[in-house]
Order: sequence, then C-alpha cells, then structure tokens
Amino acid sequence: MSAVVIVGAQWGDEGNGKIVDIYTEFADVVVRYAGGPNAGHTLVVGDEKIVVRLLPSGILRRGTRCVLGQGMVVDPGVLIDEIDGLVKRGHTDVEQRLVLSDRAHLILPYHIQVDTLREASADTRAIGTTKKGIGPAYEDKARRTGVRTGELRDLARLKTRIEAALDAWAPTIRALGGEMPSLSEILDSLAQSATRLVPLLGDTSSLVDGAIRRRQKVMLEGAQGTLLDLDHGTYPFVTSSSAVAGGAAIGSGIGPNRIDTVLGITKAYTTRVGAGPFPTELDDADGQHLRKVGVEFGSVTGRPRRTGWLDLPALRYAARVNGLDALALTKLDVLTGMSRIKVCVAYDTPRGRVTDLPIDELDNLEHPPVPVYEELGGWTERIEGARVLDDLPRAARAYVRFIEEQSQVPLYLVSVGPRRGETIVLHNPFVGRAAAP
Ligand code: IMP
Repeated sequence: MSAVVIVGAQWGDEGNGKIVDIYTEFADVVVRYAGGPNAGHTLVVGDEKIVVRLLPSGILRRGTRCVLGQGMVVDPGVLIDEIDGLVKRGHTDVEQRLVLSDRAHLILPYHIQVDTLREASADTRAIGTTKKGIGPAYEDKARRTGVRTGELRDLARLKTRIEAALDAWAPTIRALGGEMPSLSEILDSLAQSATRLVPLLGDTSSLVDGAIRRRQKVMLEGAQGTLLDLDHGTYPFVTSSSAVAGGAAIGSGIGPNRIDTVLGITKAYTTRVGAGPFPTELDDADGQHLRKVGVEFGSVTGRPRRTGWLDLPALRYAARVNGLDALALTKLDVLTGMSRIKVCVAYDTPRGRVTDLPIDELDNLEHPPVPVYEELGGWTERIEGARVLDDLPRAARAYVRFIEEQSQVPLYLVSVGPRRGETIVLHNPFVGRAAAP
C-alpha cells in the first residue's frame, strides 16, 4: 500500500506543482482532492513553463492516471481549455489519462458573478478571493443546491437543478445589484461542455481505492495550503475547501487509514495572496527581494504576492493539523544574496511567549501577537547546481538544518531552482531512499 498526500504547509503557492511533478515519476495515479481553478500549479519542464489550474500536476507524465476528485469544484470551460491547451502543446493523451469524479461540483456563471460582486461591494468584507466562483460553488454544495458533474449526463435533470439554484441565488444577486444570468445561455454552454466532459466521468472513489488495493502508488495532491483551509486556516480569510491532509480522504473518497505518508511543502520564506493576517510580512527591501527574485506574482490572478520571513510556529501548526511525516523545502535559491535571514521562532502575546501559532489571536488589532525572530547568516554563492546537501554553502546548510530541527519534521527534499532537476532529493516517499529526479 502506498498513498502519499502532498499538502502546502503555508498560505498556498509553496511550489506544489514542481514537487508533485518530481514524485509522480514514481506514482501510478495522481489525484487532486480539493479546490478548483483558484489554484495555479506551475510546472517547468525544459524550457517549457505550464500552469495547471484544475488538472493534477502529474498530467505531464505519460502513463500517469490523473483524477479530479469529488472534493473539487470544477469550472467546465476552464477544464476544457486546459485540456485543449496541453493537447496543442503535444500532450495528446491527456483525455485518455484523465478521470473526472461524477460527484465533483460544477462552478457555474452565477458563482463567478456572486464572487466578483461580493469582492467589489462595500457592504461585504472583501477577502481578496481569486474571483473564480469558489466560495459560492461550495456554498451551493453545503446548502444542497449545487450541481454535480454527473448531472451533465441528463440535460433535462440538469435544467431543473439549475433553475432551483438560480431561484436560491436570485435574492443575493439582486441585493448585490447584479443582473440575473440567462438560464438558456447557461444550458447551451453546458450542453456543449457535456459532450466533452461526460466521457471523462467516473466513480473516482472506487478507482483510487482499487488502485491502492492493487498496491499501485497513489499521490493525493492538495491545493491552496493549510492556512487557507476552511477549518484550520486564518478564518474568515480562507478558501472554502478542506485543503489539509484530512481533506484528501474526503475529497478523493478513500478511508484515512489508506494514507501512508503526509508530506508538507514549505517555502524557505512565506507568501500570501489576498487579505488576512500575515505576522512575518515584510514591507521593505527584503520583502521586495523575495517578490522579485522569487517571482512572487499570482499564477492565476497575476497579483503581487505579499512576502515575509519563514514562520516556524506556523510550520509547527501545519505539522500538527496535517500530521506531517515529511517536509519539502522550496525556493531556497531565492534567499541567495541576502546578507542575513530572519526566522520567526515564537510569538509574544498578552499570555506570554508561545512557540505555537496563536492562530485565533492573529487578527486581534489591539494586541496582535508579535513575532520573535532569530537571525541566521546569509550566503552569496549560486546554489542551483547543488544535488546533495553538502553541495550547499555552509550558511544555507545551517538554515536548512535549523528548519528541520525546529519543525521536528524530517526533510525529504530541498528545491534549489525552478527546474525539475534543480533539486536535492533526500528521500522519496514512494521508494524510501534518495532517487535523483
Ligand atoms: P478563493 O479560494 O478564490 O475563494 O479565495 C480565498 C482566499 O484564498 C484568497 O485570499 C485567495 O487569494 C486565496 N487563494 C485561493 N487559492 C489560492 C492559491 O492557489 N494560492 C494562494 N492563495 C490562494
């Protein structure tokens, strides 16, 4: 049995695309279990840079089965465009390798409309969403007016479901000053999408469970990151799905006891897109260095990401709520050239100094927890060529070891550049020993 969950340990954009892509060389099946096209996983292969929003990052590996699990919300137009884009680039077998859960929920035009109107409205608290309709689609799921992908098989039934959903949304759309969308336009567009998507539909819970029982290697790929999780993130500045490792069982339809290893990904620093607390945020030349050198601009929205130092209490929190067995550290190369590197190791709060993340106090404007930093030495040498830890400059090695010791999670991988090969692989969760990417 070998099922590995890969989960972002921060606020998303930890470099999941590259890490999943590296390990999927060893995986038979890759499953996305939560979120929707709010994600943007960047894959760099040779000189080609591809951003996937819905498709699992394993999609570029020939022979890998890719699954969109029922924990996801899927915008049919985005999915079809993404498939066509890859086919145009020569990845012609994408549809043969892809299975879409017939229980995933559809993102429909009114979800995007409500998301966008709310973000623009002075009456609601904008949280800087990606405006891809994620929140309203999950709201529909929870209030039992959602439309599932399986309903694309029966267009008459689909019509009734969408009529009911439009009735439910009408007061909200009108209160936000929006025009009611046209039912017939939605149905025409869905009828076209159905011809492409119905052949991809399947019972993905049986597929994934069956693969695990046959001892195939299964990778369960998260999106968005722990601190954006609906239950465990910095609520209400979160996304609307279960991004944490526990979400992998629900979102893919397997029992939690089927999962062997949970691997968390953290950048060597921190970023966040959108509103919400970010205690180690930098608003100075160091912050600009991280944004510029790390190319920290949203891959879906193009928005500049907020940047800051690594937050170890947050990483320990992620280790707890996900049950991290292993850690992948990404973007270490971005720190090259900084004369010194600060790391948050604790917080000063009205209760005293704490080493856990005081997550529910982070937006206390009167007494915000104050990060306590430790300062480590920087390095100037380029590190993209490092393939084992000993290739790194001494200060970089010390930094990596410090993170491992402080988080108490064994390090499995260090990414030293954007390309697939620019990686130090220490352990592989599928084979248990070092294997070059
Ligand atoms: P939503 O998921 O579009 O509803 O956005 C909710 C919050 O999650 C916003 O702060 C977004 O910026 C953030 N968010 C959603 N998806 C991602 C992601 O893939 N990376 C980073 N932030 C994200």
